[in-house]
Amino acid sequence: MIGRDLPSLIHTANELAKFPIAGIDLNLGCPAPIVCRKDAGGGLLRNPETVNRLIGSLREAISGRFTVKTRLGYHSENEFPKLLEIFRSHAIDGLTIHGRTVLERYQTPVHPDFVKMAVETMACPVIANGNVIDVETGLAYFAKTAAAGLMIGRGAIRNPWIFHS
Ligand SMILES: Cc1cc2nc3c(=O)[nH]c(=O)nc-3n(C[C@H](O)[C@H](O)[C@H](O)COP(=O)(O)O)c2cc1C
Repeated sequence: MIGRDLPSLIHTANELAKFPIAGIDLNLGCPAPIVCRKDAGGGLLRNPETVNRLIGSLREAISGRFTVKTRLGYHSENEFPKLLEIFRSHAIDGLTIHGRTVLERYQTPVHPDFVKMAVETMACPVIANGNVIDVETGLAYFAKTAAAGLMIGRGAIRNPWIFHS
């Protein structure tokens, strides 16, 4: 789900719960200006208190699997420790981290140290994401983070056979 209006998000979660879904993920990473201008997706990371309120209320409302996908911050990766404290304070079922800030969008190298910090801090599985394009980059991300798994986006669009490599 993506959005910032809590009643709408809870309404959507309740509607989704009527279907045999695997889980519900909250998007805290989308950098598209039209999304961030509305303080949704990655735009929410500018306001940790809102993130705290949304995740807390959604956790109460969602009885099934509830996961969060995030970037390291909006302006700077130094925003991440505070966000991590918030993620840790709610019983989410998984955390996927795109290891960049929102302003870094899609091109810069990722910051694996911050993903590692999350792996060491969170009680739930942490998935590392960003710039995995082949076995070599995937194994390197694993080695640097000890993440529970990898999420592969553009690498899988470019090469759908990447999972068989
Ligand atoms: C076309 C496109 C659509 C995306 N849509 C979503 C989305 O709906 N939800 C989400 O959490 N991330 C979305 N992302 C971000 C990816 O999940 C991922 O975090 C990002 O592309 C970095 O990982 P990669 O280097 O493996 O592509 C999208 C990325 C692209 C390029």
